[in-house]
Amino acid sequence: MHFLNTIALSREQLDQLIESALRFKRGDDRSQPLTGKSVALVFFNPSLRTRASMQVGIYELGGNAVVLEPGATSWTLEHREGVVMDSDKTEHVAEFVRVLERYCVAIGVRTFAALKNWDEERMDPVLNAFARYASVPIINLESATHHPCQALADMLTIREKLGAGRKRVVLTWAWHPKPLPMAVPNSFALAAAQMGHDLVIAHPAKYELDEELIETSRRLASAAGGSLEITNDIDEVFSGAEVIYAKSWGSKQFYGNSEQETITRAQYRRKWIVDEEKMARTNAGIFMHCLPVRRNVIVTDEVIDSSASVVVDEAENRLHVQKAVMARIFNRT
Ligand code: CP
Repeated sequence: MHFLNTIALSREQLDQLIESALRFKRGDDRSQPLTGKSVALVFFNPSLRTRASMQVGIYELGGNAVVLEPGATSWTLEHREGVVMDSDKTEHVAEFVRVLERYCVAIGVRTFAALKNWDEERMDPVLNAFARYASVPIINLESATHHPCQALADMLTIREKLGAGRKRVVLTWAWHPKPLPMAVPNSFALAAAQMGHDLVIAHPAKYELDEELIETSRRLASAAGGSLEITNDIDEVFSGAEVIYAKSWGSKQFYGNSEQETITRAQYRRKWIVDEEKMARTNAGIFMHCLPVRRNVIVTDEVIDSSASVVVDEAENRLHVQKAVMARIFNRT
């Protein structure tokens, strides 16, 4: 019922979602499974693409979006069970969800990692609290550990730009002035593996993604006829690559200690950036990023403004895949 990540989806189901998104994009599917229905969108964190594309997508499917921002346009929310709520949280997710589902047929949730406690946050506590209390579908709009709508849009973009089939895909870490969550690289790695691509993940030492996520991705890549390699050498990965996906993320080893991490990662600034010289070594590779992106930090102006860059198409595809996800949910229920 819920759409929390892509792990439980088969390759066939992923292909069906991508085909459905393409039908929406071409205008071949104009169905409106949300007619007369409302969908809540709960944003604990800022957003441009997710918020706008979900609101537009719900409207185009015939429905109405109810946007809530806990702590700003709705009450501050507690998600832990059994706590004495005598601090700064006004309402519990239990009541928030149970009330909201009397009005809305699904709830989308954006809740980033706070980058404070790795063992807790890798379990996605806020998103899972919503899923636990809800009797309507919960749609993950980027949680502490996953951003499945982004990953689906990424897989659709690769398919559109390069055609179906196995591609040489590079997910490269990039320097950023502060540590960022791992949801996007986690979901991209997982989905690329599920689609059977040959995925290479490049990051400096100490920037390993979650071990369980990597093992799952490795197993799924192998089952889908693809592969997964990991390297600490950015120089070796561009040669022959068909997709360069850049993203920064924080180190598990410095979790909760962003000041120390910022000092340590400074050494990577000059080298871990996507520039023209690196892109020239690819096999006519496309440049991808989920956006927002810091120009001349993650990627140079020359690359993001070049014909190799597909970042805006990738953002557009968020709309089409999310319509496909909602149509799948509501055509079934
Ligand atoms: N890529 C993405 O989720 O963008 P927003 O944070 O702007 O929604």
